[in-house]
Amino acid sequence: MSLLVTNIGQLVTNDPALGDGPLGLRHGAALVVHSGRIGWVGDAAAAPAADARLDADGRAVLPGFVDSHAHLVFAGDRAAEFAARMAGEPYTGGGIRTTVAATRAAGDDELRATVGRLRREALRQGTTTIEIKSGYGLSVIDEARSLRIAAEYTDETTFLGAHVVPDGTDPDDYVSLVCGDMLAACRPYARWIDVFCEHGAFDGDRARTILKAGLAAGLQARVHANQLGPGPGVQLAVELGAASADHCTHLSTVDIEALAGSSTVATLLPGAEFSTRSRYPDARALLAAGATVALATDCNPGSSYTSSMPFCIALAVRDMRLTPAEAVHAATAGGAKALRRNDIGHLSVGARADLVLLDAPSHLHLAYRPGVPLVSTVLHNGVPA
Ligand code: NIG
Ligand code: FE
Repeated sequence: MSLLVTNIGQLVTNDPALGDGPLGLRHGAALVVHSGRIGWVGDAAAAPAADARLDADGRAVLPGFVDSHAHLVFAGDRAAEFAARMAGEPYTGGGIRTTVAATRAAGDDELRATVGRLRREALRQGTTTIEIKSGYGLSVIDEARSLRIAAEYTDETTFLGAHVVPDGTDPDDYVSLVCGDMLAACRPYARWIDVFCEHGAFDGDRARTILKAGLAAGLQARVHANQLGPGPGVQLAVELGAASADHCTHLSTVDIEALAGSSTVATLLPGAEFSTRSRYPDARALLAAGATVALATDCNPGSSYTSSMPFCIALAVRDMRLTPAEAVHAATAGGAKALRRNDIGHLSVGARADLVLLDAPSHLHLAYRPGVPLVSTVLHNGVPA
């Protein structure tokens, strides 16, 4: 079964061989989807025949968004904490414990319902790939079930047992648990291991111990780094060859140079700065140094309760001074790189047919029309979602 998507006003391929600039932009384009993959890309006038046809009617078509950082397995509500922050309270990460208590008390079906609801919400807004972390269980049983449920919704699952040290637990005992029984119980359901390397969570040495245990067990590393203040997270991510250092809000010049000289992606999460009213990362310095930048939502009930990649693109353009093209690239190809995936984040022949049709003539409208639901059609694996 093949599908011709034609009359595309502006096609973002993210393949410079297929069009102009880093976005590989084409006008008057068409593409053919075959068995869930991109089978052909070219001018609409030269399109081959296909079994079915979708007329884009001059709209823009982009690769589906790749949200490489989300915490969807949780229970409870922290709206009051958000309201208090907007009234001047700082964000400290202390609310994580509130969510841990609610998550432990919730049944599997309640957790599943929340993950499913947020996954559908993200898909409607164009997210075709999403990473989902554990991190609100913090016990062997609760971390393992969080990941078992996450794995029902995505292949990109991340073990974040090292989110914070649970109340009443000695930090070194907890590190031993995370590296021992918890890792063993979570390993079957996880692709990645992550640590919140931050003052008040895990210091550099403890984070290194945990990440190395995960790597030794066959997981790949990513790190919550330099979110609330300067620290060793970014350097550790680079040292261990992590796929991504996430947040990157408080970076030194040395951190920026380390990222630029490595294959570790700097994943920026502007929803967190927006929702905690914090300063934004210096995205321009990262790009100027040559680092690869990704954008993700950080969707979680505390610091960033948004599932919207278009919203994060708008924030990145307005508040972090990315160009619209840089922001779209970071939300698609950047996310794919942060997940070490080469089958998504672009629309070259052979790529997975994950794409988004906008009710707009160009990708510029994602930032130009903030808050407007522009995503009109999503194809996921070539199938309308
Ligand atoms: O990425 N920084 C640590 N974890 C989350 C926040 C979790 C929470 O506040 O519940 C984050 O921002
Ligand atoms: Fe996070």
